[in-house]
Amino acid sequence: MSAAAPAYEFSQAGHKLAAPSGILALMDDMGRALTLDPHMRMLGGGNPAVVPALQALVRERMTELVADASGFERMMVSYDPPQGNPRFLRALADLLRRTYGWDIGLQNLAITGGGQSAFFYLFNLLAGRFGAGRRKKILLPLAPEYIGYAGQGLEPDFFVACRPAIEWPEGPAGQVFKYTIDFAAVEHALARGDIGAIAASRPTNPTGNVLTDAEVTRLSALAASHGIPLILDNAYGMPFPGLIFTPAQPFWAPHVILALSLSKLGLPGTRTGIVIAPEPIIQAITALTAVIGLANGTLGQQLVLPWVESGQILELGPKLLRPFYAEKAAAAAGWMREAFTAAGVDWARHAHEGAFFHWLWLKNLRIPTRELYERLKTRKVLTVPGEYFFFGLEQDWPHRHECLRLNFSREADAVREGYRIIAEEAARAQR
Ligand SMILES: Cc1ncc(COP(=O)(O)O)c(C=O)c1O
Repeated sequence: MSAAAPAYEFSQAGHKLAAPSGILALMDDMGRALTLDPHMRMLGGGNPAVVPALQALVRERMTELVADASGFERMMVSYDPPQGNPRFLRALADLLRRTYGWDIGLQNLAITGGGQSAFFYLFNLLAGRFGAGRRKKILLPLAPEYIGYAGQGLEPDFFVACRPAIEWPEGPAGQVFKYTIDFAAVEHALARGDIGAIAASRPTNPTGNVLTDAEVTRLSALAASHGIPLILDNAYGMPFPGLIFTPAQPFWAPHVILALSLSKLGLPGTRTGIVIAPEPIIQAITALTAVIGLANGTLGQQLVLPWVESGQILELGPKLLRPFYAEKAAAAAGWMREAFTAAGVDWARHAHEGAFFHWLWLKNLRIPTRELYERLKTRKVLTVPGEYFFFGLEQDWPHRHECLRLNFSREADAVREGYRIIAEEAARAQR
């Protein structure tokens, strides 16, 4: 018999960070499904698909790395400096400067253990508690926003989020909607005077929305006029992996912080995040890495180094990933229409402009989507309930209990059958 575990007292910060959270429960369900339950239809989680053409390149490059005895030993046996591998950072700065004309150098780049760590560092540097009793918050100009941010603040009430406007690009009778930024709400939030930074993912996880160039330019101008940074999370976006299906352009300005990642290119296992930011921010992130992790993993940077030096990394999205995901998205949208129409569900989906999610709106649902999630799990369909993505809103909004995020990038049979089961359960929950 094992002894009862002692009741340790956690610090306030530790208590807040280590409290069981939505993301932990969902990651647990997903991990269990992937390892223990081969029959679960995995429409949850943010895993990229295995894109055969890209994985072939990764294998080829891995073989090359292993065959290069001294390079391989250097990669495995040496710590990189906390900022990242200098050759990788220089190559990336050169690429971005020569391709987009961005005025950045080595001093504007840092590597982190995935984009997730980058956001933990950035948010807690720019918001929280400051001298003389001041507090600052992170402003999310458009909710719903990425669930992974929700638990990251070291202080309570860390985020302020704005409800979006809803447009119907195919007309009011259509089944496709799009969120756009309500700038009056953003300006109202900025007028509070306690905003430390504006942050948005582009494309947005969970909706697949892509903020337009005009929206980003206006956010950037607002951030500049308030003397705060605009953080753009390009995990699915530009310059890479380029999972964007609208004519949006990459954006940078001296007060803009860009976060990139190798994950959605197909390499989440390497845990490689990249921050592009003003020098003082990079210095702070480098210091945080040294304290928290000493250095970052070397593998991701070494794997893609030749693609960064040659510029090929910018072509992988348009040439290999986009056609793959566009085909998946179109097929899944067809199955959705088929299943939901047949089941008589009152539904709409967000325009798919980027990433690999369908964001489903089940109007007038009688139960919260957390409960729908549980019902679907018993029918072996794993999704992500929408409630988790609306953190930071000051008032409740019925819409936040009516949405589901669906990852359509896995096996066709699982997606098609999954959508059929969701339609059945939704019809039951709407009656
Ligand atoms: C919008 C967004 N940002 C950041 C991340 C973090 O990704 P990673 O830590 O793998 O780079 C994710 C992961 O799903 C994401 O969807």
